[in-house]
Amino acid sequence: MIMINELSRLLAVNGYLPHGFCINWSPLLIWTYVISDILIFLAYFSMPMALVYFARRRKDFPYRWLLWAFATFIMACGATHLMGAIVLWYPLYGLDAALKAFTALISVATAVILWPLIPQALKLPSPGQLKRVNEELQTVNTALLAEKARQEELIRKLAEAHSQLLQSEKMASIGQLAAGVAHEINNPIGFVNSNLGTLQHYMVDLFKTLSAYEQSEGEMSTETRGVLTKLKQQMDLTYLRDDTNNLLSESIEGLQRVKRIVQDLKDFSHVDETGKQYANLEQGLDSTLNVVWNELKYKAEVVKEYGGIPEIECIPSQLNQVFMNLLTNAAQAIEAHGKITLRTGHNGENVWVEVEDTGKGIQPEHLDRIFEPFFTTKPVGTGTGLGLSLSYGIVQQHGGRIEVSSEVGKGSVFRVVLPQHASPAQSSATSA
Ligand SMILES: Nc1ncnc2c1ncn2[C@@H]1O[C@H](COP(=O)(O)OP(=O)(O)OP(=O)(O)O)[C@@H](O)[C@H]1O
Ligand SMILES: [Mg+2]
Repeated sequence: MIMINELSRLLAVNGYLPHGFCINWSPLLIWTYVISDILIFLAYFSMPMALVYFARRRKDFPYRWLLWAFATFIMACGATHLMGAIVLWYPLYGLDAALKAFTALISVATAVILWPLIPQALKLPSPGQLKRVNEELQTVNTALLAEKARQEELIRKLAEAHSQLLQSEKMASIGQLAAGVAHEINNPIGFVNSNLGTLQHYMVDLFKTLSAYEQSEGEMSTETRGVLTKLKQQMDLTYLRDDTNNLLSESIEGLQRVKRIVQDLKDFSHVDETGKQYANLEQGLDSTLNVVWNELKYKAEVVKEYGGIPEIECIPSQLNQVFMNLLTNAAQAIEAHGKITLRTGHNGENVWVEVEDTGKGIQPEHLDRIFEPFFTTKPVGTGTGLGLSLSYGIVQQHGGRIEVSSEVGKGSVFRVVLPQHASPAQSSATSA
């Protein structure tokens, strides 16, 4: 009894006894209080930490200040529990009361501000709602993406149609010009050719007559023979006879070439032919080659490896445009001097035409783009970037395809594969 009195005197502060006295220092109660209070304090301490961490990470959370209020009041609650453990030994009831008052204040304040927020909080979309909205948004997004792809496809088709229009206008003018020139040249060529033929006959007759005169020279007077011999020497009659023949043969041959070129120009332009017909692509290739020969002849040696392909149902003038584009591209790809090989072949269903060059080749990153309208790597003024896009369109309309393989620094091969017979759909599309 004396010991207890002594202890209470020691522990008493301002006349208060530690709380432990009230429970008679029962170890079971003391430790239950202490352990529970400390655990509660630790739990209450960790919760605000979590809230503060959340508030700092989620800057977009609309009620961040409320989180701070919660954190403060939970922390205060925790502190009151810690105080509960302390007052078991130290009767700091004043501090305990102050802490409780502060906790009460902040709890009430938090409770008061919480209620008005409830209607607003109820309006916040639930995760389920958000999920639904998200799903709807995703559906709309997919639809938008599909629409975007459709629009891009439309734009591509429009650009293709535009380029085709530009090119076909260009080709139509070239065709008309070629046909006009061919027509104009055809007439004079015709009579010059016929006149030269007649002249050749005349000359044969003339030289025959001259020979007859020469044979009768023996019967002439010495004086007349001398004059004639002198004249023959002056005129170099032997040379004249041979050369006249040569000149006429060469001129007739030259005229044949001009006639061929005129015929090629006509074949190339085919201005009157708009519908499909059966035509031989090797002939088309030859006539196109002659038309672009001027651009090619200094650049490359042209080798033909024709496989004797059958006639195919096509619009020859359009395919000639394709060949012209491929041939000019091949020539333009060759920097100094190279080789262009033209190959043809067939396999029952399809025929193919290949234009191979030993030019600079196509950069791998450009391979996907060369058929795009306006794609060009040539300097301004040299290329419009429409040649291949037009060719692609034409070949596609014929139900065929263009294949490319190229190696930088070595050269390129363009292969046009076409069906031998047009499908009914293509026939009606072109005749429409
Ligand atoms: N045989 C080839 N060798 C190397 N590059 C080629 C060849 N053919 C085409 N190309 C590349 O493809 C691009 C597009 O060719 P396309 O024929 O469409 O246009 P272009 O030749 O530049 O201009 P255009 O034909 O309208 O005058 C060229 O600029 C070139 O870079
Ligand atoms: Mg081109």
